[in-house]
Amino acid sequence: MLDNNPIIQALKEKYEEQFQSQPDFYKAPGRINLIGEHTDYNDGFVLPAAIDKAIYYAASKNDLNKLRLFSYDYDEFFEIGTDELKKVETHWANYLIGVTAQFQKRGLKPGGIDCVFGGDIPLGAGLSSSAALECGFAYCLNDQFNYGIDKSELIFMAQKAEHEYAGVMCGIMDQFASTYGKEGHVMKLDCRSLDHEYYPLTNDQADIILCDTKVQHSLASSEYNIRRNECEKGVAIVKEKYPQINSLRDASPEMLDVVKNKMEENVYQRCHYVIHEIIRVEKACQSLLKNDFITFGKLMYETHNGLSKEYLVSCHELDVLVDIARENSDVLGARMMGGGFGGCTINIIRKGGAEKFISTIEKEYSKRTGNMTEIYRVIIADGARKLNP
Ligand code: GLA
Repeated sequence: MLDNNPIIQALKEKYEEQFQSQPDFYKAPGRINLIGEHTDYNDGFVLPAAIDKAIYYAASKNDLNKLRLFSYDYDEFFEIGTDELKKVETHWANYLIGVTAQFQKRGLKPGGIDCVFGGDIPLGAGLSSSAALECGFAYCLNDQFNYGIDKSELIFMAQKAEHEYAGVMCGIMDQFASTYGKEGHVMKLDCRSLDHEYYPLTNDQADIILCDTKVQHSLASSEYNIRRNECEKGVAIVKEKYPQINSLRDASPEMLDVVKNKMEENVYQRCHYVIHEIIRVEKACQSLLKNDFITFGKLMYETHNGLSKEYLVSCHELDVLVDIARENSDVLGARMMGGGFGGCTINIIRKGGAEKFISTIEKEYSKRTGNMTEIYRVIIADGARKLNP
């Protein structure tokens, strides 16, 4: 099984060349999110899935008390002593250092590890390559040092690595999806309790196509943290009137309207979007159960409008991609996906409509923006795991 995958073959060869020994192999996938955007850090619901694009690791313990890391995709080596972990200039290394630091914070002392990693998750496309990198490495350390830490804790360690070493105050969706993904299923995740239910969604029902804007606006991480802060401000104002409210998950549209005149306009808009988005996830799950992709798709378009006009995390390129999709009757729903300010749109396409959709969107996107899009047809896959030889 391992030998069939050219990425694993390449990592294996590199590992042998670099470290002259035989490693174990691990894998952690990227994710899509059908609906429920910017709801995770508001204790709301999301509907993500892991995909067939992943980061792979060839790794084994060393006796040197050093992280010796090789990024196959950047063709770059980095090493650091396990007693000297800190943020470094080598951007990609921070994710792995950040994860190792979380084990140390728990009083564990992972010794050295040799690791070559690489994969096929497009970077900066909003498919959570960073969460995959963190989750896969957390899984790998846990396994190599036999810590027996539960997956439900590993995801929080991966999230903390992102907070502390990448500076993005992300929610739990990406790490959860990368770890708990299930082939042929999306998961409805309650981001407060972490209760989750799987709903079947396969390519027999509809095609899932991602269109990459190929742009990444530099605002992404700072604006993300600002949105989070605006939501917190909103919660504090709603709470003055309704003390039982601890997050936007608890607030109803009516409660928000009662306190509207106490809020700055931007805070109101952000809260309005989030409260309605949480309601949309519920409705979307109901329509999925009935195989009603028409309603599901309409909800996705509503989400895009909210993200673009109220939450202000879209950008011209994302809006153009959604506009083009809207003009095609084979597209059941389309919207920007992930944090925003670039990355991909997610499109649900009626069976048989994919080819025409792809050729139209390629042509129209370059006509309207001067950029080329890149298309990814995704299949829903399993979450992080060790690969058997
Ligand atoms: C990024 C974050 C997630 C989530 C999404 C928006 O992907 O990492 O936690 O907040 O943005 O839904």
